Amino acid sequence: MAPVPSAPQRAAPIGVFDSGVGGLTVLHELLVELPQEDFLYLGDSARFPYGDRTPDELRAFSRQIADALLERGAKLIVVACNSATSSALADVTAHVADEGWGVDVIGVVGPESNLAVALTRNGRIGVLATSATIASGAYERAVLAADGLVRLTSVACPQLARISQDGAPITEGDVALAREYCAPLRVAQVDTAILGCTHYPFVRSLLQRLLGPQVTLITSGTAIARRVQHALDARDLATPHTGEGRYSFLCTGDAGAFATVGSRFLQLPMGAVDHIQLPIEVPA
Ligand code: DGL
Repeated sequence: MAPVPSAPQRAAPIGVFDSGVGGLTVLHELLVELPQEDFLYLGDSARFPYGDRTPDELRAFSRQIADALLERGAKLIVVACNSATSSALADVTAHVADEGWGVDVIGVVGPESNLAVALTRNGRIGVLATSATIASGAYERAVLAADGLVRLTSVACPQLARISQDGAPITEGDVALAREYCAPLRVAQVDTAILGCTHYPFVRSLLQRLLGPQVTLITSGTAIARRVQHALDARDLATPHTGEGRYSFLCTGDAGAFATVGSRFLQLPMGAVDHIQLPIEVPA
């Protein structure tokens, strides 16, 4: 039987999710910017990568994960995955509202796009993202809504999340691939590049080297912490606790592997990771 929604509590955790460890780069930023809050992170590592999934799959997976986080008391949900945000943010937001939870859902595409538009000096912005994110057109919509005159160059980077998630040392082959992904941004002479996948901060230095030091890189984490703070304040849901909050982890795949790779992304101790089983079938 589905749990009966109760009003979100100030002392409850903020739920954060991604296809795997990439969203930990967003969680890292949130832990730094909102140190007193508690967080519950869910990595859907059994179904990684999301970047090759269809919009229907991404919507179904995201609804399942939102339910899992809400059932565990989340007072706000951060979709720390650009692929899920691009195809499923509106759907998950409606799903959460329809079920009567009264919880805000915040995604990563809007805050990054606004920041990029605010920072570009020559009006040329690039975005590197998964195939699913680029195919959704979400960045075109968000960037052009913020400034209709900006020129956006979008590049799908099918292998870049895997290079980040693998945990293996970066090879010359990886560098060649990343150089290929960056080439259209160099040709377009962008001065601002959105790392439109939460896995990419892990290869940030490589991308900065390939794009050149004059290009400002925008990541989800920096763009989203302020949005989360505003959402909590607007609903009077900021934690009453002072001091450092707690954070914990769930994942759908191998918990040991998640903890090992995850600690490199989080740059903080991970502690225990609990395995969670989500429905495998994709609901209609
Ligand atoms: N971290 C996910 C994103 O931000 C992508 C990685 C994947 O393909 O699952 O899009």
